[in-house]
Amino acid sequence: MKIYIKTYGCQMNERDSEAFAGMLVKAGHTMVSSEEEADVLLFNTCSVREQAERKAIGKIGYMRKLKNRRPDLIIGATGCMAQRLGNRLLEELPHLDFVLGTGQLHTLVPLVESIRADRRQVASILESEAVLTGMGSHFRPAADPGNWHAQIAITRGCNRFCSYCIVPYVRGREISRERSDIVAEAKELVASGAREIMLLGQNVAAYGLGGNINPPPPGHSPFAELLEELDRIPELLRIRFTSPYPTYFNDRLIGAIAASRTVCHNIHLPLQSGSDRVLREMNRQYTRDSYLGVVDAIRSAMPDVTFSTDVIVGFPGETDEDFEQTREVMNRVGFDNSFIFKYSPRPGAKSAERVDSVPREVKEERNRILLEDLRARVEKTLKQQLGTTVEVLVEGVSPRNPERWCGRTGTNRLIHFEPVDGLQPGMLRQVRITRAGSVSLFGELI
Ligand code: 5AD
Ligand code: SF4
Repeated sequence: MKIYIKTYGCQMNERDSEAFAGMLVKAGHTMVSSEEEADVLLFNTCSVREQAERKAIGKIGYMRKLKNRRPDLIIGATGCMAQRLGNRLLEELPHLDFVLGTGQLHTLVPLVESIRADRRQVASILESEAVLTGMGSHFRPAADPGNWHAQIAITRGCNRFCSYCIVPYVRGREISRERSDIVAEAKELVASGAREIMLLGQNVAAYGLGGNINPPPPGHSPFAELLEELDRIPELLRIRFTSPYPTYFNDRLIGAIAASRTVCHNIHLPLQSGSDRVLREMNRQYTRDSYLGVVDAIRSAMPDVTFSTDVIVGFPGETDEDFEQTREVMNRVGFDNSFIFKYSPRPGAKSAERVDSVPREVKEERNRILLEDLRARVEKTLKQQLGTTVEVLVEGVSPRNPERWCGRTGTNRLIHFEPVDGLQPGMLRQVRITRAGSVSLFGELI
């Protein structure tokens, strides 16, 4: 069969889509890049904000026309919204053939094949630990210029229950994969050309802690042990990871990152809010000061480190003063990148029981202010890079200008340059910075 996958949401969903593609191709099916060519349409959906759900429902609804023309077409919804709505989604969208939840990823191939044989509507949303077996599949066509990069999911689910978040309900309890499976997967990816690996999990730093929601004691970090083992894979050049919960950065983990050859000095450290009162109501287990303490500890071990973050504006009851505290913490840390989200109540998550009290215009204004702060900050820090020489991992042709190539520093800065003969994606090269743009840098290979 010919399969088309459309992915919504986060990197974990992208990774699940790739695992789906890997399993399907291994079973003899083919991936296609347009809906018209496909025998099976998969919509891998997201639930984290209402907007994401609305988009996917709209899109799947629109596919009814295609199905009327081609009744053999199989349409399925997977991912977090599929998990959250289950049978309700089949009722709302009667042309949908199946709903496959996040705990049943490994059953996709037999499910699709059985639906082709005996057309029936199926909702499969049980949580199952067997899901770990399907997580190692990859889809890496030999000639793909993007093969220098690969992603590995090291945990599934989340046990933290931040009050605004639907993830623990739709992705289930946190489970970690075996370290030997992850290392074997990394070695295989490196053998097929990967030079940078992104480790994924809702809270990667909880890796190997058995779902315990208390951060590990000083001196103990199974995640650090994993990083150290991956660091020894000879041709692997870079390791990145996302996202770690701030309080899991102890001395052991920070020391392992600082001492490693490959782990990038760019840390995504979700802040969510800079107000202690809001943090408490979000059920985040840190304060403004303890968050800043983590930033300082990481910075003193790695002075060149850059940080990025996630922030929510307009959480129920967020006052101007709370917001100013968020702004102040963001400016103090000097994030190189921030993902700012307007609060969206998620039915099922704890905070949805509260009135969504901050008006939309206020959320938009706070969002705008943080984006403007970010823009000004990035412009300034990029200018400071002028004249320096940095190491980049070559990514390939620049997306906006085919005459140029681009690469990224370990600190996650994007640099454009003129290519030279023999340059290949996945090489490490030195670049002298000659010009600073508003979001990226320009330089010369040396
Ligand atoms: N509303 C707005 N943003 C949210 N996030 C998670 N849940 C919500 C919500 N209900 C944001 C958090 C998280 C990121 C992935 O999405 O900032 O870190
Ligand atoms: Fe959601 Fe909090 Fe878990 Fe992140 S740590 S997935 S925000 S519950």
